[in-house]
Amino acid sequence: MKVTVFGIGYVGLVQAAVLAEVGHDVCCVDVDAQKVENLKNGIIPIYEPGLTPLVKSNYEAGRLQFTTDAKAAVEFGEIQFIAVGTPPDEDGSADLQYVQAVAKTIATYMQSPKIIIDKSTVPVGTGDKVEATIAEVLRGRKSTLEFHVVSNPEFLKEGAAVSDCMRPDRIVIGTESDHVKDVMTELYAPFNRNHDRIIFMDVRSAELTKYAANCMLATKISFMNEMANIAEMVGADIENVRNGIGSDERIGYHFIYPGCGYGGSCFPKDVQALVRTSEQIGYDSQILKAVESVNAKQKTKLFELIKRHFNGDVAGKTVALWGLSFKPKTDDMRESSSRVLMELLWEAGAKVQAFDPEAMEETQRIYGSRADLNLMGTKEAALNGADMLVICTEWQSFRAPDFDTIKQQLAEPVIFDGRNLYDPQRMADRGFSYYAIGRGLSIKQG
Ligand SMILES: NC(=O)c1ccc[n+]([C@@H]2O[C@H](COP(=O)([O-])OP(=O)(O)OC[C@H]3O[C@@H](n4cnc5c(N)ncnc54)[C@H](O)[C@@H]3O)[C@@H](O)[C@H]2O)c1
Repeated sequence: MKVTVFGIGYVGLVQAAVLAEVGHDVCCVDVDAQKVENLKNGIIPIYEPGLTPLVKSNYEAGRLQFTTDAKAAVEFGEIQFIAVGTPPDEDGSADLQYVQAVAKTIATYMQSPKIIIDKSTVPVGTGDKVEATIAEVLRGRKSTLEFHVVSNPEFLKEGAAVSDCMRPDRIVIGTESDHVKDVMTELYAPFNRNHDRIIFMDVRSAELTKYAANCMLATKISFMNEMANIAEMVGADIENVRNGIGSDERIGYHFIYPGCGYGGSCFPKDVQALVRTSEQIGYDSQILKAVESVNAKQKTKLFELIKRHFNGDVAGKTVALWGLSFKPKTDDMRESSSRVLMELLWEAGAKVQAFDPEAMEETQRIYGSRADLNLMGTKEAALNGADMLVICTEWQSFRAPDFDTIKQQLAEPVIFDGRNLYDPQRMADRGFSYYAIGRGLSIKQG
């Protein structure tokens, strides 16, 4: 099938590559000319496991193409995916300008019937707005071309995006049209062999399903962080509590890890956007607001622990920071907890020596060169002469480090662990002051 994808970001590029891999012909279009040029030269704009070979091989096979020519891209596919960003507006609601711009472009150039699939995360009712936009442009063109607007939210996880798209848990499709159902069933057939993963529903329910999923996951994290804060104050260990509750299969072990807050391009903005949607319809979404405020506070948690350890005197300290991306296996820094921490440290007069396996370039792009930020080539180099080690992201390579080296390199053996990677008692036995999240056993030496 011939498919056009607007927006070559985390969602668009992965979806396009995966569709090409199973044999569809995919044309990717983006307004970012540099990104398109780079992709044509085999330079992949994001780090995502397994993505680079997939993009390169399908580009070389001619099943995947990249362009800035929107007119040609609209002509290309009967199916037109919208996978552009929906960043938060000033008031936190989703900014739909990019989605609507694509809708106008499609309506302006289409010469044959189209199925327009919204893959971006958009508030309930956006399908109607996109439909109205396209209808208006077509009316202006005196065209009676047929079109359908479909909601097909994306559930991929950054860091596992390729495998999530290859083997999706579910494929949610919002449409009332039988013709569209047939086309979508055919499009996704290669991903639907093992068992039927397609769930058809109306457009509004599909749009809300995406927000409900992300808000549920964010709620689990904020809930665990609240439990961790309580555990710390009552002298309990949240890791024991986590094991204790996870064994109840109604709760389960997934996604109940306490930590220094959630980040990324999705949870923060999607929780905010649903809060705003609720406000607009006169509903007070108390749980979502609490999820958001617990998370905002949790992102300052490591800084508070650092201040407490150093009796409020952080100025002039050098902080070795391991992990910059908002989670492992991605270079994405959007809303990352490390950014909140670094900015608080800088404000307090501290210096950061950071290492991340993938997100150093992105950090450089965001913060540029500054005297209080040094990006180091290895995790060991980041320790050199530092006053403390802080861990913000649970990359595999941080899980079993050489503690003797850490101890030798640091001016004082103190670790602030935002992801609960180590055992507090063992750390104490090794002579470290060790602070983690919600562990009553956090220990200050001396
Ligand atoms: N990143 C994720 O993990 C994830 C997961 C599920 C859903 N989503 C949702 O998917 C959408 C896209 O997210 P993303 O992370 O891929 O965004 P992104 O910022 O990585 O990519 C968006 C791309 O769209 C391009 N673009 C903007 N306007 C355009 C236009 N008029 N025509 C063509 N291209 C245009 C941008 O240049 C950019 O390359 C968002 O709504 C997001 O909430 C993201």
